[in-house]
Amino acid sequence: MPEVKPIRVAVLGCGTVGTEVVRLLTDQAEDLRHRIGAPVELAGIAVRRLNKDRDVPRELLTTDAAGLVTSDDVDVVVEVIGGIEPTRTWLLDALRSGKSVVTANKALLAEHAADLFEAADSSGADLYFEAAVAGAIPLLRPLRESLAGDRITRVMGIVNGTTNFILSAMDATGAGYGETLEEASRLGYAEADPTADVDGFDAASKAAILASLAFHTRVTAGDVHREGIAQVSAADIAAAKGLGRTVKLLAICERVVADGTESVAVRVHPAMIPRSHPLASVNGAFNAVFVEADAAGEMMFYGRGAGGAPTASAVLGDLVAVARNKVASGRGPRESAYAALPVQPMGNTPTRYHISLDVADKPGVLSQVAAVFAEHHVSIAAVRQEGRTEDASLVIVTHAASDAALRSTVDKIGGLPVVREVVSVMRVEGEE
Ligand code: HSE
Repeated sequence: MPEVKPIRVAVLGCGTVGTEVVRLLTDQAEDLRHRIGAPVELAGIAVRRLNKDRDVPRELLTTDAAGLVTSDDVDVVVEVIGGIEPTRTWLLDALRSGKSVVTANKALLAEHAADLFEAADSSGADLYFEAAVAGAIPLLRPLRESLAGDRITRVMGIVNGTTNFILSAMDATGAGYGETLEEASRLGYAEADPTADVDGFDAASKAAILASLAFHTRVTAGDVHREGIAQVSAADIAAAKGLGRTVKLLAICERVVADGTESVAVRVHPAMIPRSHPLASVNGAFNAVFVEADAAGEMMFYGRGAGGAPTASAVLGDLVAVARNKVASGRGPRESAYAALPVQPMGNTPTRYHISLDVADKPGVLSQVAAVFAEHHVSIAAVRQEGRTEDASLVIVTHAASDAALRSTVDKIGGLPVVREVVSVMRVEGEE
């Protein structure tokens, strides 16, 4: 191979992912040199504290991240620190000074993608972020590149391993949310502070990134309707099982067409899906994303969504891509937000509900309940009643209606004197 200028890489962060990135860069240096057409060299690793035990070359460590990202000796910045500030400032400075950036930072991209892309455009740098969504699974590149000629209509997936582990365990054991979360923490599947995962923040950031790419529209985390899994009860899981369904925390990005006008709806919430749906068999900490496009049809992407090595695999893939672009004096895809579709509020989004009620077992109860649905223009798809001695269990599944109409229906039904208890309310996805 003729002598070519090496690609010099700065790594920000040396936690689980950063350590794996450094290890892969070192162990695979020779292969990477062939794949890229130039050697890749580490210029420095920015850390907060120098005196921690780490499995990386000590001489590369620095606490001066701000200096490293703008250094003339750096071509590409790999960011695996996370957080918004000061990371945002460092990446903006890096991009403005012409360094390509590879980042795994979903929260940053879900809030500040516009600024980051603008900074990349100002200098002609690349911004790649495959590791930000669904870890090792090649998903953003297919949306951004492979499917760029198609019209994507829906992206629906399990993009958070912690919550999938908890819901899978609840489904397997019948246990409640609280005790299953404790078990997940004990086994190391949930963080000491699990808020970002269980309250759906992590999935909402990922949904914003997926929707932006799928629909060529700027979607931020604030545009995403978010519900976590803390309210999912053992009764919800049992109700789902009784209907041949299971409960998953889904990130759903949809193109909605109403009266000839297109918009997008982006949401994260628990939902019942049929046990026969491909996403139902995704268990434990795995991720999977189901994509529907006009010409391609249905596709499913499955694999490890978190962890040092899987995330580092996605980072390295991006690093190879931006390094190849540098060698070719070219550039990868820029932000594509030309469609600028409006984002629907959740209340306008069409959804379907499953509602399980304990009711009095006497004449006219079913008609009173059905009248509330009719009043809100919600069509019932299926009803199942099981009588007991003095009361009955009533399970209703609706057709699609606006989420606001369904919410109002449930509120009013809960107040009917013949309804003893609303046992379970959950959205239904993956059918019809
Ligand atoms: N905390 C995430 C999860 C992984 O549980 O899937 C990082 O996005």
